[in-house]
Amino acid sequence: MRSALNSPFSPGSDSVPEVWAGRTEQLSDWRDVVRPRRIAGLPERGRTILGEAGLGKSTLVRRIAREAAAGGDWVTPQLRIPSGSDPLKLVAAAILRLADEAGLAASREARIRKALDRVQAVAASGISLSLRQADGPEPYTVLTDLLVEVGRAAIRAGVAVLIHIDEVQNITGENALSQLLIALGDALVFEEPVAVPGLAAQVHRSLPLAVYLTGLPDFADMAGARKGATFARRFKTTTLSAIDDDDLASALQSFIIDGWPVPDGAGGIAKIRMEPGAASAIVDLCRGEPFLFQLAGERAWYAGTGEVITRAQVLEGWKAARSEAVSHVERILERLPARETQFLRAMADLREDDRTLTRIAKEMGLAKATDAGPTSQRLDSVRGIIERGKPYSFRHRAVEAYLSGDWPDL
Ligand SMILES: Nc1ncnc2c1ncn2[C@@H]1O[C@H](COP(=O)(O)OP(=O)(O)O)[C@@H](O)[C@H]1O
Ligand SMILES: [Mg+2]
Repeated sequence: MRSALNSPFSPGSDSVPEVWAGRTEQLSDWRDVVRPRRIAGLPERGRTILGEAGLGKSTLVRRIAREAAAGGDWVTPQLRIPSGSDPLKLVAAAILRLADEAGLAASREARIRKALDRVQAVAASGISLSLRQADGPEPYTVLTDLLVEVGRAAIRAGVAVLIHIDEVQNITGENALSQLLIALGDALVFEEPVAVPGLAAQVHRSLPLAVYLTGLPDFADMAGARKGATFARRFKTTTLSAIDDDDLASALQSFIIDGWPVPDGAGGIAKIRMEPGAASAIVDLCRGEPFLFQLAGERAWYAGTGEVITRAQVLEGWKAARSEAVSHVERILERLPARETQFLRAMADLREDDRTLTRIAKEMGLAKATDAGPTSQRLDSVRGIIERGKPYSFRHRAVEAYLSGDWPDL
């Protein structure tokens, strides 16, 4: 009855998972703030969603985009930047597709034809265009111009436009990064004059454009340090952290109460249920990590074929997932500079109520607490792995579990 073909859990896949947990704040930010404000012509910053691998950044914005598209908005697919590639080509091609959707391809207006031609050149040559044609406009102005046309068409159609650029930390070229951020930022702050009946003076409105950038926390350094104030004025950054246990438990509640519907192989529907103890074991094992949540769920699903997922099956399945769960956390730790890993290890070795900067610094063998200050600040405000409260605590609960206990064993 349960099989690999009908599992609703999907670790690592690029689709929006059927078993969804939490992130309600971010979903409602789109529904209640970003979209309505931009549709109304009010200014609203783009969104940058950062966080360690597996926290669900790509998936979150995919879900937002899917919802938007279902409501008729014009959305790009997730534009994933491969490491070292030219992001302008990719984004130019995506803007051309939006222009198509907006019906601009058929336009006879010279202004629009010219904008399309220029973006086609950027899609073909990318950043190298600015070097080749020294006298022509820079690629970023070209992209902004066409985005503005798409935005005008969106006003006429009464829809929003959503652009999602993923893995933004892979944009390593300084020039490409600033051109891209300026192109998108300029379109976001662009103000269109509109005539209002009965008003002599013109008023201005923003275009119904929304931009989501997603990627690893390292992007904050790249965009923050040099692009500084302008970037912060145009994009609002959120760093995702673990999902609350309550939210994970609610996500599994439908298995407990109603059962999860799957085809029974005889033309009907069977309901797959879960023992309450099975659900709490999944919540317990995954430590707020959406990737591990999907992994634990999938393995439990595979651990039997019957109508009820038992706690024993969750534990059985987790054995098969164990090494994958460990590498997930190890990959996160390996990417960190040595000093940050050292800090986390020292912090994990201390009792929860002993985790103060002074104690951690001492544990690291540092002379003064302030020597560990910058490291702790980065781990908190850039990476979202710890929280510098009183005492310090882990926000990344899988990292904590891995460093301080028997996890992934129960
Ligand atoms: N809100 C969520 N609820 C349940 N599972 C989620 C959620 N967000 C992400 N996932 C799952 O977590 C895994 C990692 O998500 P992904 O978006 O690829 O992470 P990131 O882009 O941050 O590395 C995927 O398998 C995805 O299905
Ligand atoms: Mg991702």
